[in-house]
Amino acid sequence: MYSDWTPDSWQGFEALQQPTYDDPYALEAAVDRLAKLPPLVTSWEIESLKSQLADACTGGRFLLQGGDCAEVFEDCESNIIANKLKILLQMSLVLVHSGKRRVIRVGRFAGQYAKPRSADFEKRDGQSLPSYRGDLVNALEFDPESRRPDPERLIRGYERAALTLNFIRSLIDGGFADLHHPEYWDLDFVRHSPKAQEYREIVGGIGDSLRFMETLAGRQVGEIDRVDFFSSHEGLHLLYEQAQTRRVPHRSGWYNLAAHMPWIGMRTADPGGAHVEYFRGIENPIGIKIGPAMTSDWLLDLAKRINPDNEPGRLVLIHRFGHESIADGLPPLIEAVEKAEQKVVWCCDPMHGNTVKTQVGLKTRRFDHIMSEVEQAFDIHSELGTYLGGIHIELTGDDVTECTGGARGLSDDALQQRYKTFVDPRLNYEQSLELALRVGQRMARANIEALMETPVVF
Ligand code: PEP
Ligand code: CO
Repeated sequence: MYSDWTPDSWQGFEALQQPTYDDPYALEAAVDRLAKLPPLVTSWEIESLKSQLADACTGGRFLLQGGDCAEVFEDCESNIIANKLKILLQMSLVLVHSGKRRVIRVGRFAGQYAKPRSADFEKRDGQSLPSYRGDLVNALEFDPESRRPDPERLIRGYERAALTLNFIRSLIDGGFADLHHPEYWDLDFVRHSPKAQEYREIVGGIGDSLRFMETLAGRQVGEIDRVDFFSSHEGLHLLYEQAQTRRVPHRSGWYNLAAHMPWIGMRTADPGGAHVEYFRGIENPIGIKIGPAMTSDWLLDLAKRINPDNEPGRLVLIHRFGHESIADGLPPLIEAVEKAEQKVVWCCDPMHGNTVKTQVGLKTRRFDHIMSEVEQAFDIHSELGTYLGGIHIELTGDDVTECTGGARGLSDDALQQRYKTFVDPRLNYEQSLELALRVGQRMARANIEALMETPVVF
């Protein structure tokens, strides 16, 4: 099937959003070194994620994908990583409990270091320098040396991805995610949150059910003390992805071993472009971001190229229309995919279509708009008889003020207090938890509606 494909065959196609390096020898040397470093993830973890995602195609599981818009090298710190893990765990706990669905946890972490930009150059006070493309490429400071794409950063990024994953794996192996001890991952701030009570009731309820089941079974319930965590990032910098694309013993095909689930960003989803060429040849589950410009023909073309065998769990379609466009944009795409009998996971990214600027020019997102897009996504899928299989959220476990609204009613004026992002605004811990509580309630409602539609046989 992939006989004309090699990890570097994308180089024969037009590759958008790639940096221009001034020293090709230094670049080649860095990529060669990267290709020799040990992998970050394994093929059996990737296959396990794929089979879990196959369940999400038909509503058996729910994907929670979340993390920073862009990770930065400076934030490779234990507290920041642990807080991100905690909020993702809390959200997944809420979804499992209220939505009664097993949750697949995928972080936007351990490699989310490269960013697409709308222009190659940025101009300030008459000076024009290369745009900041993420820490994998250059530095944010506006001076010629910082903005020079530096191949060494590929290695530094890879090392930080390894450090991040190592810490996450150790926390999980050490029992950090043990459902018997949710207090391990209780964020301090939950105590002061307007939603604290609701969350505590859920945790209390789970504790009670666990003890009840264990009393009945006479032993500790297996698997509950362990959770899986998968990694993902936008597969944007193709030399970085290529360097980690390997064959593994006892399995056929090529795996990208830098992340479990890389995704294709909206700006690089041209079916005839280099990114699609690269992605079609790897075995990993693959996300594709789809926005208002996507047409049914384009989407089916992508699906045919990337998932010619219609393998369930291979394709995750991450729709990001914005709360005003989803009602018009999404249904025709769902209908086309259904008609083509493509087995996909539909996942709602309610962040990227809802970015606005405040009067003082800060990029923000309104909690109500985010919630509205998620709610509409649930409604649209339920009307068309398909499943919303997951959500994709930009968030942080820290107490930032980047998105407005939520239970605390964060205003435009309050955003300046702790506005830390260099790229897109993220939900803070409280807003993320509130979103999970509301999504959980929505899933619970859908479960009841489905039950009511099931004929009762006496
Ligand atoms: C992102 O996920 O940060 C991003 C740039 O998304 P999109 O490709 O959907 O614009
Ligand atoms: Co973003």
